[in-house]
Amino acid sequence: MARFITFEGIDGSGKSTQARMLADALPSAVLTREPGGSIGAEDIRRLLVEGDPDRWSAETELLLFTAARRDHLEQTIEPALASGRDVISDRFADSTRVYQGATRGDLRAKVDALHTLMIGREPDLTLLIDMDPAVALSRGLARGSGEDRFEDFGLPFQQKLRDGFLELANEGPARWHVIDGNRPIEDVFADVKAACL
Ligand code: ADP
Ligand code: TYD
Repeated sequence: MARFITFEGIDGSGKSTQARMLADALPSAVLTREPGGSIGAEDIRRLLVEGDPDRWSAETELLLFTAARRDHLEQTIEPALASGRDVISDRFADSTRVYQGATRGDLRAKVDALHTLMIGREPDLTLLIDMDPAVALSRGLARGSGEDRFEDFGLPFQQKLRDGFLELANEGPARWHVIDGNRPIEDVFADVKAACL
């Protein structure tokens, strides 16, 4: 049966690199990402990742991420799985739990309620690429992509995110694999493959 595999982790941890390598190793897999992954969700992505860090309230941001995810699910993820293709997504709902939930603790209940109401789907397998935030931040900003709205929140924020991801993985070990991302790309990928292939 087709599998829904997600990569999670802080900004610059190497998720996209590993997701791409896994997609190359699973030839019929669909490689996608969040925010984005469908035409409508990519439009919403631009509203989220560009511009002033204070552009949106946390609540508005949560609604935008959820709207993008719903479109991604309808247009990309569900059709691919239904046709028997594995889906590899660079981020999914766990990113919302951590970024929008863990950093504004009082929002977590709303994050969970919206997920149940509008998404209702968990991945079959989630790979957390765990990283020292100082190293990850320097990698992420070095890309100079212009999509640095979240990186711009700084190091203590990234540390909080790392703790949030590890907490989620510890709460729900069944679908989670924690992989040490602070190693050469090929070593990280060996663990990714061992978890998936
Ligand atoms: P993410 O998607 O988590 O933000 P990327 O895969 O885009 O991370 O990687 C961020 C930067 O770090 C890229 O320039 C990438 O080439 C580099 N990179 C990725 N994995 C490693 C690694 N294991 N060691 C050193 N550099 C890496
Ligand atoms: P992404 O393109 O994966 O950034 P990076 O390659 O730097 O890891 O995601 C863009 C930003 O959006 C990233 O900082 C994480 C954030 N984000 C959320 O805050 N909530 C979400 O639900 C998702 C999917 C992403």
